[in-house]
Amino acid sequence: MVILIGYMGSGKSTVGKLIAAKTGKAYLDLDTLIEKDAGLSIAEIFSAHGEIWFRKKEMEVLSKTLNDNPDIVLALGGGTPCFGNNMEEILSHSDKVFYLKASVETLTARLANEKEQRPMISHLGEEELDDFVRKHLFERNFFYLRSPHVIGVDQRSPEDIAQQITEILN
Ligand code: S3P
Repeated sequence: MVILIGYMGSGKSTVGKLIAAKTGKAYLDLDTLIEKDAGLSIAEIFSAHGEIWFRKKEMEVLSKTLNDNPDIVLALGGGTPCFGNNMEEILSHSDKVFYLKASVETLTARLANEKEQRPMISHLGEEELDDFVRKHLFERNFFYLRSPHVIGVDQRSPEDIAQQITEILN
């Protein structure tokens, strides 16, 4: 199983779909699986049930997905590796774990235009977003950097990144 991790806006879904197309594997997105399971969008889950409920559901759906689907490309949510024993579980299922590593500048520029569907950041203004991402990424890097493969994504096309990962897989 190929697993993509990284901060919101690092390109996990876009790159994941390209890797799936190149390798002929099926693609799954953990956020989408959580939405199907809950019958609500991620934003609705946060507003109806709160983050703790979301994290429990995320842990449950992660576990089931890792156990049920041996040969897929799986894009996780930005927070998935950072809660409970999720990163242990991820690493015990696959050594093909790729951290898409983007700088604060890249992430802030991308997320400024697409924060509405992301409850962790949807309430933040432009300057607050930069400060939030800087601090949050610093905390989360501790988990992300346990990944066996770290792929720099700044100023690169999704196609180029997917090509690099596919070559590592071969
Ligand atoms: C989150 C990232 C989101 C989604 C949820 C929480 C996070 O996924 O799981 O909004 O804590 O970073 P993406 O990284 O796909 O935006």
